[in-house]
Amino acid sequence: VDPRIVALQKRACARGVIGLAGGLPATELLPRDELARVLADAATHHAVALTYDWPEGVAQLRAWIAGRLSARGATVDAQQVIVTSGAQQALSLIAMAHRGTQIAVGEATYPAAIAAFERAGVDVVADDADAHYVMPGVSNPRGVDLVEPQRAWWLERGALIADEAYTELRFDGRISRPLVADAPARVWHVGTLSKTVSPGLRVGWLVPPLREHQTLLDLKEAADLQTASVTQQAAALFLARFDYDAHVERSRRHYQARAARLCEALRRELPYARFAEPEGGFAAWVELDEPGDEIGLLGEAIAAGVTIDPGRAFRPRDAPSASSFRVSFSSAPIEDLAEGAHRLAVAVDRWLTRGARASRRRS
Ligand SMILES: Cc1ncc(COP(=O)(O)O)c(C=O)c1O
Repeated sequence: VDPRIVALQKRACARGVIGLAGGLPATELLPRDELARVLADAATHHAVALTYDWPEGVAQLRAWIAGRLSARGATVDAQQVIVTSGAQQALSLIAMAHRGTQIAVGEATYPAAIAAFERAGVDVVADDADAHYVMPGVSNPRGVDLVEPQRAWWLERGALIADEAYTELRFDGRISRPLVADAPARVWHVGTLSKTVSPGLRVGWLVPPLREHQTLLDLKEAADLQTASVTQQAAALFLARFDYDAHVERSRRHYQARAARLCEALRRELPYARFAEPEGGFAAWVELDEPGDEIGLLGEAIAAGVTIDPGRAFRPRDAPSASSFRVSFSSAPIEDLAEGAHRLAVAVDRWLTRGARASRRRS
């Protein structure tokens, strides 16, 4: 991600502006008491939680992951699952296994996937490559399902990296059959507890195609030996003791209400902007007709008291585009969302005026 964006976002955090940037879960949904208990129990009663384990991860956790995938129609054995430090590490390991090849990511995608792929020596393109990165159910940043409506078409592509970070957070609760169920030899399945339970746990997972399993395990071991035992053990206890599905359902309703609040405000405050009503996840993707300096727009937004994620971070190099930005509704207090949209409208207005002045000076 462009360091200028990071510097601006950090400054904004320090000043306490309304945060419509980032992919953070709502603080009030974090199961703090439950996690406090399982973290304490992991340390007190499970000696393995405080020492080294195997690189593939804690057995109960792998069994839970395989069980959920199997319940959705895939034939996945716990032995195939590698627990990773968040979905992000799964993407980094997949990237290493694809060094020197091309991965297609679409016109707008999760910025840290682009970063992981590029840093590992993958050529990231907008479309048409040997491997495609997709986000079934809810894509980031668009907030809609770009896979299921064209499922057959996707399954005819080559390798698919299926990142299910937000899949369970579809507001309608419709969770489609995982792609790995239909093309196990070509799908690299990625999941995480970050969006549904807590990103601080850093518990994600990877199910690579069977023939790649050992290579990926070797890469994982070389990267960090293993994902932290204590959080893996705590996650396994959490999933065994508490009702994960009920927690996810509560979260869906919570985020749906926030999405509705933000979208209503965006329609009122930015009637000229284009965006799709999110079907799930944490954010909406907004497009403007005018091209322009999106980092300048972030600067104006912060000056007006709100943060956003500028669109350029989401695009592979050279992908053409109008100006765009992502606005998250997930973590700012719900009562701040309308004011956030209002400040954003003030910022866009100033930004457009400045852009018009600049182009008049040039002509
Ligand atoms: C689409 C997508 N995939 C993966 C991740 C990384 O999640 P984790 O915290 O599990 O590393 C994110 C986080 O924002 C995401 O938006």
